[in-house]
Amino acid sequence: MADVVPTKHEIILQTELAEYVRRTTKSAELHAATQASVPGGIASDYQVMDPYPFYVGNSNASSIVDVDGNNLIDFHGGFGVTLFGYKHPYLIEAANKVFAEQGSLISLPTPYLLDASKILVERFSLPFWRFFNSGTEATLDAIRLARARYTRKYVIKIESGYHGHHDAVWVSVHAGAREVGSENPSVPFCSGIPKEVSDLTLIAEFNNLDSVKKYLAKYPEQIAAVIVEPILLNCSMIKPKDGFLQQLIELCRAEKVAVIFDLVKINTAIHMKHIIKYWDNENCGPDLYTLGKGLSGAMCPVGAIGMTAEFAALIPSKVQLSGTYCGNSFALGMVTAVQNYATESRQDTLEMLSKFMHDRVKATIDKHKLPAIVEYVGNKGCITFFKKGHELPCVRHYQ
Ligand SMILES: Cc1ncc(COP(=O)(O)O)c(C=O)c1O
Repeated sequence: MADVVPTKHEIILQTELAEYVRRTTKSAELHAATQASVPGGIASDYQVMDPYPFYVGNSNASSIVDVDGNNLIDFHGGFGVTLFGYKHPYLIEAANKVFAEQGSLISLPTPYLLDASKILVERFSLPFWRFFNSGTEATLDAIRLARARYTRKYVIKIESGYHGHHDAVWVSVHAGAREVGSENPSVPFCSGIPKEVSDLTLIAEFNNLDSVKKYLAKYPEQIAAVIVEPILLNCSMIKPKDGFLQQLIELCRAEKVAVIFDLVKINTAIHMKHIIKYWDNENCGPDLYTLGKGLSGAMCPVGAIGMTAEFAALIPSKVQLSGTYCGNSFALGMVTAVQNYATESRQDTLEMLSKFMHDRVKATIDKHKLPAIVEYVGNKGCITFFKKGHELPCVRHYQ
């Protein structure tokens, strides 16, 4: 049998992998030891890394130092959440102030509740806010609110969108969960999600209004909500086509279906002016926003739902939203501090840095005629590689 010759790509991967293993012996040991008491040796399955993750010993500003002493520049930034870097003096001071004033107070409101909500009202133009402990909690309760408001059971989710790990949305998270062009059944991400539950989530396509209309016709007055990221960030970076979000909102309004815009990845990382231009917010905006991680600049877990007065009126008589740590003093003190710090001019600086990176990556792609495109919005950016011969000018679909 003829020898299989490795491709250039495989050779680079093997070389880098060998180098990684050589430089991370302590991480390898720690990972092996941790696996004895922690399934998979990681805290969240999104931390899986081949052949094992590196363990962080220290972090400062834009650098992290792993337990082997490797000094690394962090371009990941906690999924874009660590907006101002590690140990930022302003954030450390704010954290100390909250502790000095309030201690770690849970289960009772503090003045930070008013401060944090006022900032969000102004920033996101929805009049009412409730706070949670994660993006997952926010999308879970936003869907519950929508189901309660219309007494309907179905929810439409966009294929390949990610909205957290609860049963209603942990379906069809990856493009490729089905064959290209086949019908879109709701595909659970993992075992433990009963089919009776995943069947309540209908899978539509981003930038394809007809795929939403199809369900509205098939299940009249049974669909409570459409949940969507205004820019899909789970699968490269897919921006909405002109008019898509506006038409989606208008369609849903006519059919009394709640529109939930999930901004868990977008909030703070991307200034709203870059997002809101995709629909006419003055006359017709989404009914609910869900926010999360970026709200506190990675200082603590947090989530939030913004809502119109119609949804707020359901709480607490018809729908109860609760949680011991919801709106705890530390989280809301940090939300207030981070949001005050993330001024428009600072967010513009982040955008400028993104553009700087984007332009240089683009120049490299162009120079070497690579089958790839690079996109950015706010502090987020993405490089998408194509199979040679399948290059596109931009990505507007995820398959
Ligand atoms: C758009 C979106 N929604 C919801 C979530 C869930 O947030 P969390 O991980 O805080 O539960 C995420 C997490 O990445 C997200 O990107």
